[in-house]
Amino acid sequence: MMSFFRKNRIKKSLSDTVFGKNIVYMHVCDSTNKVAKRSLDMPHGTVFIADIQTNGKGRLGRTWDAEKKTGICMSILIKDDIPVCNAPLITLAAGLAVCRAIGCNSMIKWPNDVVIGSKKVCGILTERSDGNIICGIGINVNTKSFAPELADKATSMYMETGEKHDIDYIAALVLNEFEAVYSAFYEGGFEAIREEYRSLCITPGNDVVIIKNGEHIPAYAMDISPEGELVVRTDEGITAVSSGEVSVRGMYGYV
Ligand code: BTN
Repeated sequence: MMSFFRKNRIKKSLSDTVFGKNIVYMHVCDSTNKVAKRSLDMPHGTVFIADIQTNGKGRLGRTWDAEKKTGICMSILIKDDIPVCNAPLITLAAGLAVCRAIGCNSMIKWPNDVVIGSKKVCGILTERSDGNIICGIGINVNTKSFAPELADKATSMYMETGEKHDIDYIAALVLNEFEAVYSAFYEGGFEAIREEYRSLCITPGNDVVIIKNGEHIPAYAMDISPEGELVVRTDEGITAVSSGEVSVRGMYGYV
């Protein structure tokens, strides 16, 4: 389908949102985050979306390629003045928006993996570039199967529901929800979305491993702080870790 029609299909399902008012639709690109970084002159709220991503970026140097159009690869350009320390929290806001939009009993593995059961359905990568924020969202929508090395930790909406979903419609729902969650966060900080985030976050109550500067620290996840940090108990006592500085693994598997 030509990109003009795809763009309009998304726009048809959008509420009156800032995010997505301007859409750059690409059939193939290296990474929608990279395209966004090269397009910082575009207006606030521009959404870059691609059918196929050949050199997609994941967190912590990982990759997120999408060889076939079975999912959503999109990046939102945010030009609001957000304090540097709050930028990682956009990731948490995006995770919440995705959960609201896709349903399917999805939950959040702190800080920003959206999971269904014990498998990941969506990854989010938020980056800063020249004072702008780029929030990249990858969702496995109609993926039928994954490579063996991912099979035990990745899933898709199709695999969970047995139904194919309209990718453009889901993208529009995510943007609508992102608008609502982001506005609340922009006005009231993380505190404004904390209760809902906590209710969807599966990490507290679990034994986890905190990975910080290559060091693996066993911990018990206790709560999400008013600042969006993970409150953990380690051998050293109770401390709060921020999403920008650590990665978290389940003690007994991915979640
Ligand atoms: C992760 O879980 O490691 C984050 C994955 C983020 C993937 C998305 S897909 C759209 C956007 N463009 C990229 O290159 N990465 C993000």
